[in-house]
Amino acid sequence: MGFLWGYQLASTHLLTAAPGAIVLRGNDDCSGSGAKLLHIWSEPVTLVVVPKSASLSAGVNPFRYSDPIPVEDLVDREVERQEMIDLAWSANNARMVAPRRYGKTSLLKATLAKAGDEGWTTVYVDFFGVLDLADIASRIETAYSEQLTGRLRQWFTSLRRTLRPVARLGGGPVSLEVSTAAGPGDPLTERLNLPLRLYERDGRRVLVAFDEFQDVLAATNADAVIRSQIQHHGDAASYIFAGSQVGMMDGLFADKRRAFYAQARPVALPPLSPLDLGEFIAGRFAATGKDVGAGLGPLLDTAAGHPQRAMLLAHELWAVTSPGTAADEECWAAALNAALAASREEAKTIWSHLSTGERQVLTAVAENQAGLYSTASRAPRGGSRLRAAESLVAASEITADTNTRTGYRVVDPLLAEWLRNGRPVQ
Ligand SMILES: Nc1ncnc2c1ncn2[C@@H]1O[C@H](COP(=O)(O)OP(=O)(O)OP(=O)(O)O)[C@@H](O)[C@H]1O
Ligand SMILES: [Mg+2]
Repeated sequence: MGFLWGYQLASTHLLTAAPGAIVLRGNDDCSGSGAKLLHIWSEPVTLVVVPKSASLSAGVNPFRYSDPIPVEDLVDREVERQEMIDLAWSANNARMVAPRRYGKTSLLKATLAKAGDEGWTTVYVDFFGVLDLADIASRIETAYSEQLTGRLRQWFTSLRRTLRPVARLGGGPVSLEVSTAAGPGDPLTERLNLPLRLYERDGRRVLVAFDEFQDVLAATNADAVIRSQIQHHGDAASYIFAGSQVGMMDGLFADKRRAFYAQARPVALPPLSPLDLGEFIAGRFAATGKDVGAGLGPLLDTAAGHPQRAMLLAHELWAVTSPGTAADEECWAAALNAALAASREEAKTIWSHLSTGERQVLTAVAENQAGLYSTASRAPRGGSRLRAAESLVAASEITADTNTRTGYRVVDPLLAEWLRNGRPVQ
C-alpha cells in the first residue's frame, strides 16, 4: 500500500516479480504504463507498470505482430487519438492515411473506445474488398447489427426488419440495383442515414469509422453517393475515414473533382519514436522475466519506427532470448534472420509486381544512392525515374524523407534490408 512512481498501490497490483524486476498492474487505459529503473537497497530494479488487462506471463511471447491490437498493446498515438476525438466533438471529419500495418485499424478501435467512454455511440465499418454499392450497404448494416449494445441493439433488431433488403432474399443472393442517384427509399441511403435514426432515438452523437475506405472506389460513383447523404448529418454524426493506399486516398480526398474533396482533416501516423518503442519493448521483456539487453539498440535502428516491424523484431528477439537472461548480439542476429525469413515471401511478391523503373528506384532508395534522377546512373532518364518514384509513393512502398540522399526512404525496413542484401530468394 502507498504511492510509488505516481501509483497508488494495493496488494492486488503486484503481478509478478521477475529477476531484477517488479511488475505491477496499472490502469486499463495505458496511463502510467512503462518501465523505470529504481534502486532498492542500492540494487537496481526495473519497475514495470502494465495495463490491468494485459495478459503477461513468463513463457508467453508478449509481442503481437499481426492483426489489430488492443488498446493496452498500443505504443504512443495518444496525440492522434485525441485529435480525432476533438475533430468529432467539433462536428468535423478526420481521415487517417498511413502505410500498410502502421496501426490504423488498432488506432481506429482505440479511438472509438475512448469516444464511447465520452458518450458517443460508435460504429466501425470495414470496406475491405467491397465490390459494389450493395456490398457497401450490407457492410454498414452488419456493422450496426453486430456492434450496437443494450437497448440500441434490441431497437436495431426491429428497425432492421423495416429496411429495404440488400444482399439476400430467401437465403439466396439477389442482384440489387442501388441507384447512384440515391433517393430516400434506396437501400444504401437508408443504411447511410442510420446515424440520424440513432441520434433521434437517444440523442447521443454517433462516431462512424470507415476503414479501408479507398475500396469503395471499386463501386461506381460510391463516394458521391456516400457524400450526398452524410453531408446532411450535421451534429448527429462525425466520420473517420482510414485507408492504406495513400494514392487512392489522396485521389478521394485531395482531388477537386471528387465528392470528398477537402471533406476530412488529414491525420498522419508518423513512425513511432525510439523512446516510446524502447520503453515498451524493455518493459515487456522485463515483465516476462527477460532482459532486452544489447538487442534493443539494433532493433530500434532496424525497425526505424515502423510499428509492425518493430513488434515482429521484438517478437523474434524475445523468442531467442533465454528466460532470466539478457539478449546479446548473437540473439539479435538470430532474431533479424528470423524476421527477414518471415517477410521474404512478401518482399518477393512486391518485387514481382513492380516495373523495371520502379525496381531501379526502389533499390536506389534502399541503398540510399546519390543522384536518383541523374542520367549517369544505371537507370533510365530522370523523367521516368520521377514517375516511378511517384507510383512507389502512391503505393506506399517509399515515402519522402529529407534525411536521405534520394529524398525518400523505403517504408518497410525489412523490405529495404532484403534489397540491400541482394534480394535472396531463400
Ligand atoms: N502503436 C502501435 N503500437 C504497437 N504496435 C503497433 C502499433 N501500431 C501498429 N502496431 C503493430 O502493427 C500490427 C498491425 O496493426 P493494424 O492491423 O492496426 O495496422 P493497419 O495499419 O490497420 O494494417 P493494414 O494496413 O494491414 O490494415 C499490429 O499487430 C502491431 O503489431
Ligand atoms: Mg487495418
